Parts: sequence; C-alpha cells; structure tokens
Amino acid sequence: MTTSEEVRADARTDRRQLERITSEALVSRRDYLRILVTISGGLTVGAAAVAVGVFPRRTGAAAPVLVADSLAEGAWVQFTYPTEHDGAIAMRLPGGRLVAYSSICTHLSCAVIPRPTDGVLDCPCHDGRFDATDGSVLAGPPPRPLPVIELEERTDGIYAVGATPG
Ligand code: FES
Repeated sequence: MTTSEEVRADARTDRRQLERITSEALVSRRDYLRILVTISGGLTVGAAAVAVGVFPRRTGAAAPVLVADSLAEGAWVQFTYPTEHDGAIAMRLPGGRLVAYSSICTHLSCAVIPRPTDGVLDCPCHDGRFDATDGSVLAGPPPRPLPVIELEERTDGIYAVGATPG
C-alpha cells in the first residue's frame, strides 16, 4: 500500500532527477555551441586569409628546365617547374602551338589530365575543365585559370623558362 507521503517523496525524487539531467544537458549544449562557434570562426578567418591572398602563390622565373627533346602534335609530357615540387604539363595542340600549365587544379589541388586533341585539361575530382589554349576555366568549381608556364623551343629541346599566375 502506498501512502500519499510516499507518492510525494517519489515525485520530489523524480523532479530532482529531471532537474539534474536538464542542467547537465544545458552545460553540454553550451560547450557544444562554444566548440561550434570556435570552429566556425577559425574557418571564417582561414577563408578570409585565402581570399585576400595572405598565402602567396609561387610564381616567377627559375632556371630554365628541359621539358622534352621534342613534342609531336597532340602529345603531352609531365615535368616540374619552377621547383621540383610544382607539377606541370606541356603539350602540343593541334595546329602545332606549344603550351604548358601547372598541373595542379586551382580548386582543391587535384592533378589535371591533359587532352590536347580535345583542347582541354580535365580535373577528375569535381569535373573541373580548363581551356588548353590559355588555361582559363571552362567548367566546374575552379576559381582561377591554371598558372601558365612559358616555354621556349630551342635547337636542343623544349625548355620551361618562366611562370605566370593563372
Ligand atoms: S580539385 Fe579540380 S575541380 Fe575540384
């Protein structure tokens, strides 16, 4: 048999448990929001730094680098320029024009795939596409053209002699 005093005691116990659970949840929610605000703030500051160009792109002249002895029409070759860490692609377009670009997509840095006979370079990561005649963006999310590598055709081969930002 349950007395009214026992019922009231149970109700008080239930209320205390509910208050304890609720107050713990509030602290946990506050911590969660604090973490969320900190991460969001960090991402915002990072995105703003990239947007205003705090992190400079490496460009400029470096010592000439031999790219290939020769390149047939529709052929392409990979090389590194201006440093050994900077991937690049040289290709001979239909009609004979020689072009070269950084092989690093300007979206999220995937390696682009040259298709000189189609006049494009494709980025498989997010379907980015660049124009092979000037490196400009034709489709997809890349925000900037591919940086251009200047080439020089000499009697003993094709040389990379300079780089300009895309
Ligand atoms: S990394 Fe090239 S399109 Fe996203």
